[in-house]
Amino acid sequence: MTAESGRLPLAKPVIGARERELVDSVLASGQLSLGPMLARFERAWAERIGVRNAIACSSGTAGLHMCLHAAGIGPGDEVITSSFSFVASANAVLFTGADVVFAEVDPLTFNMDPAAVEAAITPRTKAIVIVDIFGYPANIPALLDIANRHGLAVIEDACQTIDGAYDGKKLGTWGHPAVYGFYANKQLTTAEGGIILTDDDDLALLLKSLANQGRSDDGAWLVHSRLGFNYRLSDVHAAIGVAQLERLDDMLAGRARAAQWYQDRVASIPGVAPMYEGDQERSWFVYAPRLDEGIDRDAVIGHLDHLGVSAKPYLPCIHLQPFYREEFGYAPGVLPVTEAISASTIALPFFPEMTEAQVEQVTTALASVLADMSVAAGA
Ligand SMILES: Cc1ncc(COP(=O)(O)O)c(C=O)c1O
Repeated sequence: MTAESGRLPLAKPVIGARERELVDSVLASGQLSLGPMLARFERAWAERIGVRNAIACSSGTAGLHMCLHAAGIGPGDEVITSSFSFVASANAVLFTGADVVFAEVDPLTFNMDPAAVEAAITPRTKAIVIVDIFGYPANIPALLDIANRHGLAVIEDACQTIDGAYDGKKLGTWGHPAVYGFYANKQLTTAEGGIILTDDDDLALLLKSLANQGRSDDGAWLVHSRLGFNYRLSDVHAAIGVAQLERLDDMLAGRARAAQWYQDRVASIPGVAPMYEGDQERSWFVYAPRLDEGIDRDAVIGHLDHLGVSAKPYLPCIHLQPFYREEFGYAPGVLPVTEAISASTIALPFFPEMTEAQVEQVTTALASVLADMSVAAGA
């Protein structure tokens, strides 16, 4: 077997006959957008999470942007978020014209450190975008306490924590809107898509309108009562989502199973630390253990690639992205904890149908690469 034929991808969606059947039914119905499949997808999410409203949209990014817009965030405002996230967490803030302020993260959970968030508050701060990175829930109660004391809006970027909970209480039920993302590598995919969960009926009406070009709240034909966006999720995408929801428990269990195989094996490999297992339950999105300081991650990735194992530096911090450096003058050193984590975490192949043999293949390759590099470094 060559490295190519047996190559393990980083992510792989589970798509089967049910997804095709429901997509086909939408195509046959002729109602490709704003139809019953969209309503069915939204209802199924609201029921699953136990919230009054689920508003589907074209992406997680679109959901975050709409929530910030609906909270009245705009030019002159500051919004605090994590730089150890996908770029969309901060970009959504910039879309509103507001400024992003990055707070340091906790070295274990990789989520925003509440003390750092509080320290970052200024008279211009209007909101916090909580991020649950790598599917591990942020310290929601502590962050909500800060937001309440300072009168700040809260939006949760739960795009990596599909179906997550903090202290057993589902994300989306904490009183602020939470956004899930359904890109193809996520725990549940609609190819592209997202959903906002909220118990607030007025906010839900506003979000529904914003996603549909500011359509009037009574849905009147081509009456636009506010400036909105086209952030609709089509019924074709929603059909994939309905089928995926039917198998979500199985897919989550598959990820959790693969994660456990990884955790057990990685724990015994010198030079790499398994992922953090704290009090909260992680919604397994990626498997991204942390290499010891001083190990050349790019070299590890290159060697793994030769052995047929895909791996990526994950996650680059937002403030050091070229656009953020050029636009805002960021340079290495401003967020040392975030930067150290970002320089050492490595995403390995991870998907629901992964077998124990495949996990073994990855960890055996990783162990041999790290051992060889350690011998070379000592030589
Ligand atoms: C933390 C985080 N926020 C936001 C997003 C944006 O979601 P989307 O790609 O659906 O716009 C993602 C997607 O990868 C993400 O991981």
